[in-house]
Amino acid sequence: MSQRISLTRYLVEKQRVDGHIPSQLRLLIEVVARSCKSISHAVNKGALGGVLGSADSENVQGEVQKKLDIIANEVLIEANEWGGHLAAMASEEMDSIYLVPNRYPQGEYLLLFDPLDGSSNIDVNVSIGTIFSVLKKPEGSGAGVSEADFLQPGSKQVAAGYCVYGPQTTLVLTVGDGVAMFTLDREQGSFVLTQEDVKIPADTKEFAINMSNMRHWDTPVKRYIDECLQGKEGPRGKDFNMRWIASMVADVHRILTRGGVFMYPWDKREPEKPGKLRLMYEANPMAWLVEQAGGAATNGRERILDVNPTKLHERVSVILGSKNEVDRITAYHREG
Ligand code: AHG
Ligand code: MN
Ligand code: MN
Ligand code: MN
Repeated sequence: MSQRISLTRYLVEKQRVDGHIPSQLRLLIEVVARSCKSISHAVNKGALGGVLGSADSENVQGEVQKKLDIIANEVLIEANEWGGHLAAMASEEMDSIYLVPNRYPQGEYLLLFDPLDGSSNIDVNVSIGTIFSVLKKPEGSGAGVSEADFLQPGSKQVAAGYCVYGPQTTLVLTVGDGVAMFTLDREQGSFVLTQEDVKIPADTKEFAINMSNMRHWDTPVKRYIDECLQGKEGPRGKDFNMRWIASMVADVHRILTRGGVFMYPWDKREPEKPGKLRLMYEANPMAWLVEQAGGAATNGRERILDVNPTKLHERVSVILGSKNEVDRITAYHREG
């Protein structure tokens, strides 16, 4: 049997052999991975662990929080606040940033996360996940940390990834030199490297979008999906397949595994919002992973990683996956 490489060994080699990541960042990623292991255990208990159903609270997004949204958020906060790697955290489930308490050592990293992605799937036993993004505190930002310190474009990320809680629990990570996948070995309790140098095929026959919103889409999206639906008799000359899991982590995992294009575009249901998905802790980490795997990610007009955020919870239109399809859809947007 080929030698198993644990997440720890992979990160130590990235730190020592490639000199690619400082030890503080390595340790931070290890803590996030341990948090995902704890969340995975809670997810796997389901009804037996009292983690299903809604809490009687709403988050800053205006969403009714699920119990697991809150549990996962607490796991990530408690695991990361004392380690000394972080200055502050931001979460989909918290209105404002969370400053590391003064009783703990302060680090130079900012951790952002969607603690539980795909919440509408929690109670129906469909894959869900955790998404995370790591930024550095801006140079010269002094002792304190403010929300403004988080407002950096996705191109400034130093680490990004997700953990998908499905038939396997799989951690997917980039630190800027490719994408690696680690599967949780429950007997050993460790994440084991199961795929390295992940690559997304440039072409695909599979698209992911919530078709129930069709009447609300903008023209370029209608044009693209209509062409796909015409199949081989139409202008694309090939039949397409559709998938929509409604957990971004699961849809993106499929795309990293076999290609495809994922779209959550602007639509006229809430015209003042650029889209449903959140830039800082959904779109940016996923966009970096996809680009690191040779794919593309735009908001219809520009690279998602180039978007300059103005608000912590701002939303963005998302088109990501197989490069040639994303380029085509982006071109349709530019043609108007
Ligand atoms: P979250 O559960 O963290 O709020 O995110 C859900 C997101 C994303 O995971 C998914 O792609 C999308 O919402 C699904 O939206 P619809 O239910 O509107 O299809
Ligand atoms: Mn949510
Ligand atoms: Mn989400
Ligand atoms: Mn969420």
